[in-house]
Amino acid sequence: MKNFYLYKYIFYFLLLLVPLLKGSEYVLVPDSYLDVQTGKLVKGNIFIKDNKIIAISDEKKLLDNKKNIIYLDGHVLVPGLMDAHVHLIGNNELNGYQSIGESSQMATLYGVKNARNTLLAGFTTVRNVGAGQFADVALRDAIKNGVIEGPTMLVSGPTLSITGGHGDNNLLPFHNHGSSEKHSIVDSPWDARKAVRVNRKYGANLIKFTATGGVMSKNTDPNARQFTLEEMKAIVDEAHSHGMKVAAHAHGLKGIQAAIRAGVDSIEHASFIDKSAVIEAIKGGTYLSMDIYVSDYILGEGVKKGILEESLEKERKVGKTQRENFKMANSMGAKMVFGTDAGIFDHGDNAKQFKYMVNWGMTPLQAIQAATINTSDLFGLKNIGEIKVGYDADVIGIRGNPLDDITKLETVIFVMKEGKIYKQ
Ligand code: ARG
Repeated sequence: MKNFYLYKYIFYFLLLLVPLLKGSEYVLVPDSYLDVQTGKLVKGNIFIKDNKIIAISDEKKLLDNKKNIIYLDGHVLVPGLMDAHVHLIGNNELNGYQSIGESSQMATLYGVKNARNTLLAGFTTVRNVGAGQFADVALRDAIKNGVIEGPTMLVSGPTLSITGGHGDNNLLPFHNHGSSEKHSIVDSPWDARKAVRVNRKYGANLIKFTATGGVMSKNTDPNARQFTLEEMKAIVDEAHSHGMKVAAHAHGLKGIQAAIRAGVDSIEHASFIDKSAVIEAIKGGTYLSMDIYVSDYILGEGVKKGILEESLEKERKVGKTQRENFKMANSMGAKMVFGTDAGIFDHGDNAKQFKYMVNWGMTPLQAIQAATINTSDLFGLKNIGEIKVGYDADVIGIRGNPLDDITKLETVIFVMKEGKIYKQ
């Protein structure tokens, strides 16, 4: 009888150990991996337990008796890529007036597909900047809970905009009362603070607002500042007091300057930035997220895809200057992140922008840093963006050296996110 109790306790004790043993373990054995800090290709096998990189070593002996060894011959491993500017919610084929027929539910279902395509293209973390009905919060949490496959998401909820601004819906005439979410259309500092509070309440990680008009919206001018400095300061102060970062959409110089002065964390697009504003951005620690691929897509595919003629007309004035200013800002040492505006073009094509960044003045390493260590810094996330012990096991594999040919990043053949393999 005594023995029975002893065995029973031993049995329960062993049961307690099960969770410790259960975690998944992998060893990735590539040709090399990229140290994104130094730009060196390093020989080493990556040991993963659960969602973390627990060791890196090229000692053969350590592979003895290991299960789950993944041989990745010919692969170079790179940290999971990040995109600071995506719109996963919605069917990106619907432009102009077609877009108002899309229900939030349908937009969210497209988001499921878009999230998967983004992850399989090697983007393991993205920042979703602007979505209706908090569909982005649901998508983020469904991914986090393992219901669907997608990148780790940081989300803004509805974009804050002035009445009739780039983040409002200006397609319908007055009697239809076309508008975005009521709470996010704000016209005073106090409304702005309230909108930040509402977005936070319903699960947003960050705040996005429109500091100028835009290309894709009806009846807005990319050069015109939207929101007063006072309103922008209220948004930033309120968001920062809750530990939320702020992303400001801004093409025109006046809006860019005001947003930098208000203390935003990133300027999205930054198309008409000038040298003195770049200096202000550097002083203020403001990141620039310049989507310099999308212009070619809009001008090449726009007519076919039903993009409004007004938008095409505006794009003709924005794209080239934005690229020249990207080159100028980068050469001056501005803090740059990789942000694409995927959702105008197909999700999963994000990496096409790397080539543009290199053609417009970045070294391949700088372009990769923009999509790894710079984004993680802007996002305020620790332990991602590098292949390093203690970091999250977000690792992608490509064939060949991306420093010799940046377009290699367009063909990702291995994807691991948080220690789980999604593509091999
Ligand atoms: N969402 C942006 C807007 O509508 C897209 C701008 C695209 N053009 C560009 N050159 N980056 O304003």
